[in-house]
Amino acid sequence: MNIRNQIILLFLLTVFSCNSNVEKKGMDPVDLKVEALLEKMTLQEKIGQMNQYNGFWDITGPPPEDGTAKDKYQQIKDGKVGSMLNILGAKNTREMQKLAVDNSRLGIPLLFAYDVIHGYKTIMPIPLGESASWDLEAIELSARIAGRESAAAGIHWTFAPMVDVSRDARWGRVMEGSGEDPFLSSAIAVARVKGFQGEDLSSVNTIAACLKHFAAYGFSESGRDYNTVDISEITLRNIVLPPFKAGIDAGAATVMNSFNELNGIPATSNSYLQRDILKGEWDYSGLVVSDWNSIGEIVNHGQAATLKDAARLSVIAGSDMDMEASAYVNHLADLVVSGEVDEKLIDDAVRRILRLKYNLGLFDDPYKYCNEELEKNEILSKENLEASRDIARKSIVLLKNESNILPLSKNKKIAVIGPLADDKDSPIGSWRGQGVTNSAVSLLEGIRKAVDNKSNISYAKGCDLVIGETSFIYELNINQNDPTGISEAVQLAETSDVVILVLGENGFQTGEGRSQADIGLAGVQEELMKAIVKANSNTILVLMNGRPLAIPWAAENIPAIVEAWHLGSEAGNAIADVLFGDYNPSGKLPVSFPRHEGQIPIYYNHKNTGRPSTAPNMVFWSHYTDMENSPLFPFGYGLSYTQFEYSNISVDATTLDKNGSIKLNVDVKNIGETDGDEIVQFYIQDVVSSITRPIKELKGFEKISLKSGETKTVSFTIDKETLQYYGYNGWETESGEFKLFIGGNSVDLLETSIVFK
Ligand code: NOJ
Repeated sequence: MNIRNQIILLFLLTVFSCNSNVEKKGMDPVDLKVEALLEKMTLQEKIGQMNQYNGFWDITGPPPEDGTAKDKYQQIKDGKVGSMLNILGAKNTREMQKLAVDNSRLGIPLLFAYDVIHGYKTIMPIPLGESASWDLEAIELSARIAGRESAAAGIHWTFAPMVDVSRDARWGRVMEGSGEDPFLSSAIAVARVKGFQGEDLSSVNTIAACLKHFAAYGFSESGRDYNTVDISEITLRNIVLPPFKAGIDAGAATVMNSFNELNGIPATSNSYLQRDILKGEWDYSGLVVSDWNSIGEIVNHGQAATLKDAARLSVIAGSDMDMEASAYVNHLADLVVSGEVDEKLIDDAVRRILRLKYNLGLFDDPYKYCNEELEKNEILSKENLEASRDIARKSIVLLKNESNILPLSKNKKIAVIGPLADDKDSPIGSWRGQGVTNSAVSLLEGIRKAVDNKSNISYAKGCDLVIGETSFIYELNINQNDPTGISEAVQLAETSDVVILVLGENGFQTGEGRSQADIGLAGVQEELMKAIVKANSNTILVLMNGRPLAIPWAAENIPAIVEAWHLGSEAGNAIADVLFGDYNPSGKLPVSFPRHEGQIPIYYNHKNTGRPSTAPNMVFWSHYTDMENSPLFPFGYGLSYTQFEYSNISVDATTLDKNGSIKLNVDVKNIGETDGDEIVQFYIQDVVSSITRPIKELKGFEKISLKSGETKTVSFTIDKETLQYYGYNGWETESGEFKLFIGGNSVDLLETSIVFK
């Protein structure tokens, strides 16, 4: 053990031995119960609580022949398992719970975990899409419904929300987060934690949340999943960690660490992240679970020679529960007996796990979430599907609408074309929980339902886009390069008033392990698109995708573009609502859309550099010689069927002192003829400071509704904390000038300034 770890260990031992002397009288009742149980536990039983297995057998039948499965089954009975993931349904979880409760010596209930990322069976928009709503109430409701459905299916704990900030559209898991901005991601993290957990974890309608992946997974080099991360402390503190801190302050019960290494130390064995920051500085009392076999992967990273050594490093670093590596259950006891790991560290981890079980109410009734009646009523209820449609509409971003081609009249002769137009599966997206294959409303179905005269609607697929049959197998379907369907689609386009062209990504093209070097339109979609636009210039492009796409030709040549992500169960209805103007879109991009993947990482809150590219024709500036620096569509961008005018930016004082606050105001007027919602965004720039700062940082936003002709004044309060950043002296606000910007996206902004003294 190196000196640093020895010091940490010494510190922990002192803290824990002091704690055990704490007068029990003053203790929280749950802590008292935890202590009482802990005292009864053998070392092996404690370690059992730190062990999580995946469930892959039918527990309602006889134990399977597979040796590993049979062994796991026995280990539950022996009290060697604290939690299972992927056991689903009231019936199955009840059976499995019985194994632990009726057979193990202490009858400690199991925790059932599952990746409920954007819905259990009623599928909501993928998290990136939902983040485009900037609607915290809607996002909270979405998580609440997902939590209600999961709890009714016996689940106690979701591995969500993923709060990894990412600046890389190549990374497949960009679909699972909230985009590139730490402020927006923090607000969304809070909404999702509140949604899953509600007010009371012991309620049968709520489940424990898990902030993941701690930390910096979104910065994997070259956007390749599981790859190395090497970032500065400044980036870690200002960009990566804020959403975790916000989620923890909102009460997130658990945290998952990560597959990546950070600056040379794997996240799972990273004491600095888990002991120093999370459990030290932030005083986090929840439980930290490893990612799937991430303890085992420490050997691959090259930091441990054996699984046993990886177990030692991980437990010392603060990983409380081992997901699927069998490292703790097989090696921790020996490590404790040999003195390499202090039992007090085991006690600390077990306390965190037991506390969660008590808080969920599992010691009062281990079967409280196993209610088949509730499961039947809750899952896919009419109310849940209606909410999904509403959240999906709110997530749609109108990227282009030349000559107000949208909204469409319902009497037009419409050709619906494209590989995703009648795809009932892709809108369910990646990380789809129990979302049923082919269960989404396709856009073609949505359009047919919305119009009166169904014979006005015709359809041609144009080409295929099939990537992978299941969430595990990645295979390129050879048909996707087959252009033979294009001519039929072109004929249809020629004989229609308008074309709705639906392109983008298959539902499994993003997600874990789905990084791409090329983020354009796959297969022959580009060819199809060009042929269709040539045949009929009244073409509306609807994109379904899980990552920002580089679509410069479309942006230049197609009059209207609608970003519709993978929107979930009600996708087709929600998009039709927008296309026909039954719903006025208000979504704004939570992430920049590059012109080309060569611009990645591209993000709005970048630094100025010593040579900002202000003069496009000059050579010696920070720029590309073959392309603009700017994104195709910037962060915060999105149109409406009406227009908003911003005016009268003002502050009620121009100087702020450290105990004061300033009000920043702006008038926003709906100058169009349609009522609409606008997301008003507030950014700052710290003009001069001892370390260089971004040219803009989001510091506030508000979603407002404005009737046609109506004006509202929107205000933001600025204090010392609004202006602070993490520098070489920790968090601080430096005196000097701060620019303040307000507008409807990160580029078109009104500006004023204040001075902080
Ligand atoms: C690996 C993923 O990285 C993580 O996010 C997920 O929760 C676990 N697998 C469990 O499925």
